Amino acid sequence: MSDLKRYLVPWMDQVKPYDTEDLLIAWSRPELKRMMINENPLPPSEKIIQAIVEAAKMGHRYPDSGPRIRAKIAKRYDLGPENVYISHGSSEIIDMIMRLFVTPGDEVVLPNPTFSLYGIRARAVGGKVVAVDMTPDLQYDIPAMLRAITPRTKVIIICTPNNPTGDFIPDDDLMKIVELGIPTLIDEAYLEYHPEHESKASLVRKYNHILVAHTFSKAYGLAGIRAGYVLADEQLIQYLRKIQIPWNISLLSLAAADAALDEEEELKRKAAYNNAGVEYVCKELSKIPGVKPYYSQGNYVLIDATDAGVTGKAIVEYVFEKDGIMLKHFAPLHGREGFFRISLGTHEENSLCVQSIKRFFANRKKEEKK
Ligand SMILES: Cc1ncc(COP(=O)(O)O)c(C=O)c1O
Repeated sequence: MSDLKRYLVPWMDQVKPYDTEDLLIAWSRPELKRMMINENPLPPSEKIIQAIVEAAKMGHRYPDSGPRIRAKIAKRYDLGPENVYISHGSSEIIDMIMRLFVTPGDEVVLPNPTFSLYGIRARAVGGKVVAVDMTPDLQYDIPAMLRAITPRTKVIIICTPNNPTGDFIPDDDLMKIVELGIPTLIDEAYLEYHPEHESKASLVRKYNHILVAHTFSKAYGLAGIRAGYVLADEQLIQYLRKIQIPWNISLLSLAAADAALDEEEELKRKAAYNNAGVEYVCKELSKIPGVKPYYSQGNYVLIDATDAGVTGKAIVEYVFEKDGIMLKHFAPLHGREGFFRISLGTHEENSLCVQSIKRFFANRKKEEKK
């Protein structure tokens, strides 16, 4: 046996991979309600499936960099195809950005809480994650983020709307970060749920250090197909090309994403379906004393049950055991242990989930009276 540690990059033992246990459980037990990983509960349209089937017929050929779809995307943002890079989901973009800018010991500043993959990919290249707690009302703490910047800060992450807190960052706050001139990822993974909110893509024209990421995994509902894109200054896109494998995205993903871009009505339908679910869950759960849902612009709702005297973990365990509903709980924030997140499901699943949570609290009340 070789002593692998002699060869391994020295920080690798400290790297914790993204926990995919939930996905293993969900795929092995299809009866479970998958409300833990911000998927879209509505399957792809027949048109998209047909586009994938057509593309599969050319499956013996290597894909190109998707000039057609890049042109289509660029037009939407009044940019050029040279400003667009198509990726195998936006997770790949996150990873590429870390590999492009971060060397061991460099710092990545991000909000806490946020999508955990940013930190995981930063650590995978030896980076140090500087997580800045959001304010007690779960907004970006910009003064604290600015104080966290050091000469070793190589990347800043702005997730807007933020996963899991659900709000967009206000423009003036965003500009304080942008004006620093430090490479900044503006992750707009959930923006398509609220197209009335303007994308920050236009910043790319003025600032060569800004990257704006989008995905087909959320409102478009293609998480299993894997496609995303990033918008940036042409030179920055060229750097991304240097570090990435040229045929990173499969023909099937390209075809699905291309077809999805043409389905504007389908996208609107999916967004409206989700947004009705958000309204419903927030309205119902806010009726429970001590339970605070944070209204969300994404396909998830963060809930704080601390004032009801329970932990997020206890609720998540209850709904899983009693009703086969998979949710996610979060680490304590500002000393509050009641955080958990519901990823919206079908209307039926949302209703089941709300009922299950209400039953959890009703049972507690009964226990207290005994
Ligand atoms: C904020 C954010 N960005 C990116 C992603 C990853 O999406 P993709 O499926 O495109 O890799 C997620 C997934 O949950 C997310 O929440």
